[in-house]
Amino acid sequence: MKPIIFDVDTGIDDALAMSYALNSPELELLGFTTCFGNVPVEEATRNTLAVLEKVGKKIPVYAGANQTLSGRQTKGWSKHVHGEDGLGNTLKEDPLAQAESQFGPEFIIEQVKKRPYEITIIAVGPLTNLALAIKRAPEIIPLVKEAVIMGGAVKVPGNASAFAEANILADPDAAEVVFSSGLQVTLVGLDVTMQTLLPKSKLDEWRATGKEKAHFLADMTEFYINFYESTYPGIGGCALHDPLAVGVAIDSSFVSTEIFNVKVTTDGKEVGRTIGHLEGEPKIRVCTQIESDRFLDHFLSRIIG
Ligand code: BDR
Ligand code: CA
Repeated sequence: MKPIIFDVDTGIDDALAMSYALNSPELELLGFTTCFGNVPVEEATRNTLAVLEKVGKKIPVYAGANQTLSGRQTKGWSKHVHGEDGLGNTLKEDPLAQAESQFGPEFIIEQVKKRPYEITIIAVGPLTNLALAIKRAPEIIPLVKEAVIMGGAVKVPGNASAFAEANILADPDAAEVVFSSGLQVTLVGLDVTMQTLLPKSKLDEWRATGKEKAHFLADMTEFYINFYESTYPGIGGCALHDPLAVGVAIDSSFVSTEIFNVKVTTDGKEVGRTIGHLEGEPKIRVCTQIESDRFLDHFLSRIIG
């Protein structure tokens, strides 16, 4: 089993990624760390605890960054994408469980030091927690086995702007810190995630299981698919951005990668852009091709559990 720290900004596709990971025997979930992003960090923490409760799993949750690395305010929350509550307006009550008292980046530092060369970090929100951990304890950089990161758009246009993917745009300085740090990074960006379309018809198959958690996941995903269908007419589903990062952590043969030095544009009109250079160090692995059908089948075989 691969020991995993899972960094989330729990909106809808984060919740799907959580359920997929929690039902995957290859992964040992050590803890979730939360970040602002789709929603403010307090809500991301609440949503993470709520998803755990709904899918019936107990894993510790550590609240992390509530603002960008530079203290800059973020550009507002993605309520049109993920709903008022971040979970497609499905949340009826607050979860009973509470987050742990330790700060998310400190949990990352502690665990990586405790288990050197073993831990994979899956990060599917803004990269602020990871950047804070690296800045506070740069000695952990070579000790992290791998960071599988959902973010960026290297060869394709952005989704939050013409140039930028949402997680990178939310904290471009943090992304630049992480990509230039020398950390072993696999970048799962829009280059591949926009090819992971989940059609609405699958949601009725989930509901047909009769399980309460299947209804919870299907109802929130319906909100997400409605957003996709109104934003990209004729697309035929929603992109499984964050679940693909989990898929790649389980089985990297779902994707092919190219090696680039990735620089992040940190201000100006193209802020949040991820540019892949063949020259320069350090290099990271950027996913550029995907076997979409094989990944989707794998995801569907595990999402409800
Ligand atoms: C990313 O942005 C967020 O809205 C999603 O949860 C995903 O992590 C996709 O660009
Ligand atoms: Ca996310």
